[in-house]
Amino acid sequence: MAQVTASLLCGAVVALLSSAVLAVVEDLDQTFKDTRMNDIWLVDFYAPWCGYCKKLEPVWADVGAELKASGSPVRVGKMDATAYSGMSSEFGVRGYPTIKLLKGELAYNYKGPRTKDDIVEFTNRVSGPAVRPLPSKQMFEHMLKRHDVLFVYVGGESPLKEKYIDVATELIVYTYFFSASEEALPESMALPEIPSVAVFKDGSYFTYDEYEDGSLSSWINKERFQGYLQIDGFTLYELGETGKLVAIAVIDDKDPSDECIRLKSLIQMVAKDYRQHFNRDFQFGHMDGSDYINSLIMGEVKVPSVIILNTSNEQYFLPDGPTETLEDLVSFITGVLNGSVQAYGGDGIVQRVKRIAFDARSTIMSVFRSSPVLGCFLFGLPLGVISLMCYGICTADSDPDAGDMELMKREGFTDEEEEEEDDEEQRRTAQLEGPENDEEEEEGEDEEEEEEKAPEQKKTD
Ligand SMILES: *[C@@H]1O[C@H](CO)[C@@H](O)[C@H](O)[C@H]1NC(C)=O
Ligand SMILES: *[C@@H]1O[C@H](CO)[C@@H](O)[C@H](O)[C@H]1NC(C)=O
Repeated sequence: MAQVTASLLCGAVVALLSSAVLAVVEDLDQTFKDTRMNDIWLVDFYAPWCGYCKKLEPVWADVGAELKASGSPVRVGKMDATAYSGMSSEFGVRGYPTIKLLKGELAYNYKGPRTKDDIVEFTNRVSGPAVRPLPSKQMFEHMLKRHDVLFVYVGGESPLKEKYIDVATELIVYTYFFSASEEALPESMALPEIPSVAVFKDGSYFTYDEYEDGSLSSWINKERFQGYLQIDGFTLYELGETGKLVAIAVIDDKDPSDECIRLKSLIQMVAKDYRQHFNRDFQFGHMDGSDYINSLIMGEVKVPSVIILNTSNEQYFLPDGPTETLEDLVSFITGVLNGSVQAYGGDGIVQRVKRIAFDARSTIMSVFRSSPVLGCFLFGLPLGVISLMCYGICTADSDPDAGDMELMKREGFTDEEEEEEDDEEQRRTAQLEGPENDEEEEEGEDEEEEEEKAPEQKKTD
């Protein structure tokens, strides 16, 4: 009897739970297009076959539950983007899963980590007003304590405020925006001008100057991080979006040597004391361990060491000698700015081919490390088949495809370190021969020349 009651109870609980899950995440279909305007929506556009989408599913249910529990007006839904491809492409969905907050005519993309807390924080921030008022000094001070970086418009109605609201409407995906009257400004702070837009961070505050800083949105984009940060792979990508170079002390944070501590404090010092000089172009921080950087540059950096990354073109800079004093560091950074320090890496064809080989090698290595037998099977078998095919192709003398195969080999589809120099050489020749080839093309049809052109064409793709 007791057993029966227990199982009945269990069944009831399960039913309750599953109905809760159903209610907090709504399955969307084509009717969504007509009904969505009445509400703010947080939507997961997924594909049934995608692994990351499956991983997101339980998180999504938690997000829905938490938003509902907290009384958020935002409705949470999911849409099979493959079933309603017309609608999802209208929303600009390109990969899966894509998370968007839809608020009337506005659509905000979520690009952060796919955890419940991060998604809920994003949703609360973006679904609320673009600019939130700070009605009192107490409130102002409270927010200063809560936010590492705080943007505030100070003053009454003005054209600057209108611009601020416009910019905030767009950039709310990144950070909060506040406004306050002059009276709500804490006494210790004296802005040079009212109205103005100020950012409070790094224990100080800085105001926006239209003449020096350019557009308000680009200034906010550049100021939305603390001057000095602990950096991981994700933050590095975010920092890169500001268009600044990132100067990093690569250190062992868990077991720091004196050298690590010294280098870290040097970078901190430059970030603070040389803000005037470098803030426009640089973001500063430290990173724990060199694994991430090594895979990024496909090389090895010392720990500790300093590296400057240009994430927009994947170039990096290393100091010539040891970085022992503040002067050493400042002159290194100045050198990167004025172009006198040698740049490595980049996103040219050679680097991209190297990246493919590097990634392939890392994948193969990791499979072998976790399961050598599987590795042999996975990679040995295809390699065997390919060798047989190669053998077949090479021995069949009049095969027109033989040329292509040759080309592929030269372009580095093998992952040998020595290939690097060859590639470099080849690119140089390709560049030199570029214009010549164009002429050749008009005149005649030399097969050899056609082949040589291929790498050039690839590069412009
Ligand atoms: C960083 O990369 C961008 C994009 O290619 C380029 O415009 C900029 O000059 C680079 N900065 C430096 C210091 O090399
Ligand atoms: C660039 O900066 C370095 C380091 O401060 C300096 O030694 C060098 O003279 C500068 N070069 C140019 C061309 O300004």
